[in-house]
Amino acid sequence: MKVGIDALSVYTPRYYLELAELAVVRGVPPEKYLTGIGQERMAVPAPGEDIVTMAANACLPLLEGQDLNGIDMLLLATESGIDQSKAAAIYVHRLLGLAPHCQAFEFKQACYGSTAALQMALLQVARHPECQVLVVATDIARYGLGTAGEPTQGAGAVAMRIRAEPRLLAIEPDFACCTEDAMDFWRPNYRDEALVDGKLSMRVYVHILEECWRRHQALTGLGYADFARFCYHQPFTRMAEKAHERLAGLACGHAVERPLWWPQIADSLLYGRLMGNSYTGSLYVALASLLETGAEALDGERLGLFSYGSGCTGAFFAGTVQPGYRAALRTAAHRALFAERQALPIAAYETMYRFRLPADGSAFLVSEGCDTGAFRLAGIDGHQRQYERVRNRRPVRATEPAAEAGAEATERRYGNSLARPQ
Ligand code: CAA
Repeated sequence: MKVGIDALSVYTPRYYLELAELAVVRGVPPEKYLTGIGQERMAVPAPGEDIVTMAANACLPLLEGQDLNGIDMLLLATESGIDQSKAAAIYVHRLLGLAPHCQAFEFKQACYGSTAALQMALLQVARHPECQVLVVATDIARYGLGTAGEPTQGAGAVAMRIRAEPRLLAIEPDFACCTEDAMDFWRPNYRDEALVDGKLSMRVYVHILEECWRRHQALTGLGYADFARFCYHQPFTRMAEKAHERLAGLACGHAVERPLWWPQIADSLLYGRLMGNSYTGSLYVALASLLETGAEALDGERLGLFSYGSGCTGAFFAGTVQPGYRAALRTAAHRALFAERQALPIAAYETMYRFRLPADGSAFLVSEGCDTGAFRLAGIDGHQRQYERVRNRRPVRATEPAAEAGAEATERRYGNSLARPQ
């Protein structure tokens, strides 16, 4: 029996920042961000948007027209958890109206949690082939304003339905893993932004990739030529390029010319380049990008996937694209999602970045000024986050807030959302 990903749905906030504009303001040559880092735009979550609303937005399309009783587990992975105890999955479970028999819980290991959740889902379906499991990876990547990590922020969620005889990707059982204690990226409970040793994190990423690749070869006997394409965890797309160049060299025993390895990853980078880092989601965003934007049909082809979570744990695993997979993709919906986003002027981005819910649990209402998709965080009351379904979603007009409207107009527009009521 084949087990794997039957459907994929990506959600990313409605607002983004052009990194070329950020570069100018930070006094950096735009080419550094666009080429050196490999990022063009980064998603900016609005007030009223958090990992719960993004996860629910990603899952919703996978449930339309489905019998909700058929979902037996909701596994949520995140680096940007909202509670030390209660799983964000419980809120998502309620917002989606899933059945009481559906288990819901949360996975953590930096950006790797989604792959751990995926493995659990695969095992569950392998034991109970009638089961369907929703895996959702949801994150807001935050560093500091003006830091080296700033252009590698981003936000988004990706939901996957895992079932027997999947329509998209049948996943092979061998996950070649490697764990080492590294302080390359971490976020103590008292911090909103990650602490990161950027250069170390890049070295550890590549080291763990090498270890996982060797183990995968030993476990499966598969070699480089057995894979048609590769998908990597993408903290920024240039990292995936560096990783794949290294893997190609390691696998072939000599440096491989760029034109030979580039086509193996190029399509997988397009969505990440526009969203920025989505931490737990980023590998699966890369998979969606590969399957949905590639001109060449991949029916029956084997993909290599590398998941990396700082701290650190990684895994290399393989999957085979299923015949007829294109009919099961949400390509048009994802294209529309990206096309409908609005560019933010720098000042509005910084205002949104600085927005914080009260940390003492005091009552707070988030006004409805921003588009948050089909769900929103309405506020906090008695230390409890209040979520609601957005009944009449405000249409997004691509022309507003136009860049030329400037920061002042944008501040006015978002002003209500950002001010704490007296
Ligand atoms: N034109 C073109 N390229 C330029 C340029 C220009 N004018 N100026 C600089 N560059 C290039 C540099 O040469 C460099 O490329 P190479 O690495 O190929 O040499 C690239 O732009 C980046 O420049 P810097 O080396 O100066 O790096 P930086 O100090 O700006 O920091 C970073 C880059 C370390 C990635 C930083 O953004 C960061 O810390 N990001 C967060 C951490 C991260 O994402 N780590 C990835 C691995 S960890 C992980 O994967 C988990 C996770 O999700 C966080």
